[in-house]
Amino acid sequence: MINLKKIKSICCIGAGYVGGPTMAVIADKCPNIRVNVVDINQERIDSWNDLDLSKLPVFEPGLADIIGRVRNKNLFFSTNVGKFISKSELVFISVNTPTKKYGIGAGKASDISSLEECTRQVAKYATGHTIVIEKSTIPVKTAAAVKAILETTQSDNDLNKTFSVLSNPEFLAEGTAIKDLENPDRILIGGDDNDAINLLKDIYLNWVDINKIITTNLWSSELSKLASNAFLAQRISSINSFSALCEETGANIDELKRAIGTDKRIGQYFLNAGPGFGGSCFQKDILNLTYLSEHFGLPEVAAYWEQVININNWQQYRIYKTVLNKLFGTLSNKKISIFGFAFKADTNDTRESPAIKICKYLLDENASIVIHDPRVNESNIDIDLKDYIKLKFSKWEVSSDFELAAKDSDAIIILTEWDIYQKIDWFKIEKLMRKPAWVFDTRKLIEPNVIKKTNLNFWQIGYGLN
Ligand code: UDX
Ligand code: ADP
Repeated sequence: MINLKKIKSICCIGAGYVGGPTMAVIADKCPNIRVNVVDINQERIDSWNDLDLSKLPVFEPGLADIIGRVRNKNLFFSTNVGKFISKSELVFISVNTPTKKYGIGAGKASDISSLEECTRQVAKYATGHTIVIEKSTIPVKTAAAVKAILETTQSDNDLNKTFSVLSNPEFLAEGTAIKDLENPDRILIGGDDNDAINLLKDIYLNWVDINKIITTNLWSSELSKLASNAFLAQRISSINSFSALCEETGANIDELKRAIGTDKRIGQYFLNAGPGFGGSCFQKDILNLTYLSEHFGLPEVAAYWEQVININNWQQYRIYKTVLNKLFGTLSNKKISIFGFAFKADTNDTRESPAIKICKYLLDENASIVIHDPRVNESNIDIDLKDYIKLKFSKWEVSSDFELAAKDSDAIIILTEWDIYQKIDWFKIEKLMRKPAWVFDTRKLIEPNVIKKTNLNFWQIGYGLN
């Protein structure tokens, strides 16, 4: 039985794409709770505190408005991790858990070193009873490690320190994070301490219907997050595999999507063919799932999910091959314009973006590429393409104007479904490009009947007989 009646102060460790928006919405919906977001990255915290709201480190529709409303009222950003842990009854851990790059499980398992580091900080600085909540996507059974660290420290140092550990995975999608947080399909809380669960529930009940709050044991909650992402990613690889079949047979992916999506059991959402899924979660979580399955002696399960990743990689490879084939098998001395570098529209995030792999394939073919994206910072692209020389008019460069990017180019490849690309005047673009000019639409953004009135050659994902 814990001695807490009400939560007055929350600390969230990790001011990233999950921690930032999630805490902003909690602060907005719970004016009586003080929400402190802490991070070891000073630059990131400075950007969260920037008076110019266009400089926030995360671009999400609706986020800047909320930050403008609650920052320095009941939402605070700081690098003082220890101070705010000690002042809070509830600590969310929302740090990055990327795929491990070294040692056992390299390339598959999730690296939870940041999470472990944070847990040690919580163990050190917490006072009284603290509820520790896993928000980051983590391998199943991580809560056991978190508990072990907290309990050991407790017995070593301060017997008055006590902890409850809950899992509360985040299901927001980037680009719609604020909507997802304000109106979630469900809130999942895993744990075995009912008092702690009820205190966390009370926070969500400020704006979420009680029927949407699901409670489970810790392991079900942790595994549900991996399972949800695996199911979603599997739909994308499934529809992408059919996009390739459509192109070969003359079937039309939109007609197929409508025909299958109207079956209520299948549903119409998440059936858009494209350049493959990117983002920080899908690939990481499926790799983690395959690692776990192998670890638990289930190689058949691992092989099943691995195929979702294989199709995703192949989709990017076959888009590059299509471009190469249409451009007579050589990209040397050709200029290719990349429209969109973010992994999806309405985010400035490029983690695992299909654009990275496709650009690398093109650069390996000696193409010169010019990248346009309305939200992605050039410094991010620098990191993603760091192995390739960046020069003006050769190898790769970034343009802030898509018409300039298109000038004298042999091909345009649309890789992110940004709204602005939907409004492009293709007659104008046609005049800027070198002929024969191609437009490759991997997002089905362009109305074929419009572009076919120009002299541009046109290829669209999932359409046969182009
Ligand atoms: C995903 C999950 O949706 C979310 O619940 C979880 O918390 C984190 O991972 P996110 O990666 O932010 O969210 O975005 P999402 O909308 O799922 O898109 C992931 C990728 O799949 C993007 O590259 C997107 O372009 C692609 N996608 C999505 C498709 O190619 N087709 C679709 O129909 C949907
Ligand atoms: P996500 O998409 O999961 O939010 P991000 O990479 O956007 O991932 O954000 C994770 C944040 O966690 C980063 O800003 C990083 O600096 C922060 N972080 C990582 N390790 C620690 C730590 N030990 N203490 C505090 N913050 C941390």
